[in-house]
Amino acid sequence: MIKSGIINENEVIELENNDLISYLYNLIDKSTDNKNAFEIYKQNQFFWSDSSVIDYFVKVLGFVVIYDKVVYFQSELKSELIDKIDYIKNGFQLKKLPKMIYKNGKFIKYLSPIQQEIEIAGFDHSINPENDLSFWYPRTANIGFKTPNTIITNFTDAETNLIKTGKWNNLCEKDLLERIRIIAKQSGKLDLSNEMFIRLGNSSNKFNFDSCHINEINELYQKLMIMFDDMYFKLEWQQSIELVLREYIKTNYQRNRIYNGMPLNTEFRVFYDFDTNRILGIFNYWEKDTMLDNLHNNQDLITFANTTHEIECDFNNLYPFLKKEAEYKLPNADLKGKWSVDFLYDGKEFILIDMAHAECSYYYDKVLSKQRTLK
Ligand SMILES: Nc1ncnc2c1ncn2[C@@H]1O[C@H](COP(=O)(O)OP(=O)(O)OP(=O)(O)O)[C@@H](O)[C@H]1O
Ligand SMILES: [Mg+2]
Repeated sequence: MIKSGIINENEVIELENNDLISYLYNLIDKSTDNKNAFEIYKQNQFFWSDSSVIDYFVKVLGFVVIYDKVVYFQSELKSELIDKIDYIKNGFQLKKLPKMIYKNGKFIKYLSPIQQEIEIAGFDHSINPENDLSFWYPRTANIGFKTPNTIITNFTDAETNLIKTGKWNNLCEKDLLERIRIIAKQSGKLDLSNEMFIRLGNSSNKFNFDSCHINEINELYQKLMIMFDDMYFKLEWQQSIELVLREYIKTNYQRNRIYNGMPLNTEFRVFYDFDTNRILGIFNYWEKDTMLDNLHNNQDLITFANTTHEIECDFNNLYPFLKKEAEYKLPNADLKGKWSVDFLYDGKEFILIDMAHAECSYYYDKVLSKQRTLK
């Protein structure tokens, strides 16, 4: 592990931190091609400081640059070039920068054909009401997998209006709880004095996990207020909003937590095509590189770096069992199209906790890349 310097596909050059910037400028001066491209890149930038030269080497040339205890790398970087975990454990920061290419006289952000495809199709799928739990839960609750006992209630039009106009503080707690008590009693499915997981129809507020967990129903209202605060930007556009209360799933193993209380449990994302009854891919929900590149909270990053190995071992051991079970049980669901199906492992069994259209689900790019390389 070098403390400062540059790394590319061919070589590792360790440098004194203070010499790094001038070394990079020298590299540019050595080649006329580089010099011309660099000048164009520089002219495209709104701001320029001496260290902006690092951006050029990373974004355009794909180098890894380690400078001032920061590891700069391109989003397309193959993970083998650097040991990100080692850097994090040694107090370095990771900084992922986008790949830039030269096109029509200027530098633009590069999107692979797969990323472009997902960017277009993903949006259409993400607004599809089939992603709501009220659509897929009844279709998967009895196919053989355990699912958390669940009740769903719609916010009334008046309540939805209050939420969408930012006035959730005016929601009537008494009305809401009364409605929930009636539904819970009718369904006989959920004991409201127990711990529960709360979410909305098409997503949870997992990045502030404490707001998704209640010890009993009287904590609901206060947690909902936090949830609306955090999720407002998503709710403003919605026609209707579903409130979902679920049995809280406990694991018989302990894991560190990130996102303000979310345990790093062993979870799987299965991509499944219900038209052909085929598994398209099974991924670790906590995929190492994705998490290391995208976790912004430093404490969460360190926690994850210390836990990833444990999760990977569990994932690799359990993967064949889930595959077998999914092949056997998922065809029982009355669904069409491609979906992501999330499973939480509680230490004994796989619990089907979440679904969405594949096209708008994280890691779908990995499914497409796998398919393209097989062709
Ligand atoms: N019933 C439950 N009991 C305990 N933990 C749960 C429960 N349901 C979900 N979780 C945890 O919360 C996380 C997020 O929940 P969920 O998948 O319902 O929401 P989401 O926002 O749609 O997530 P994603 O972004 O993964 O699609 C899950 O990955 C799981 O770790
Ligand atoms: Mg989801």
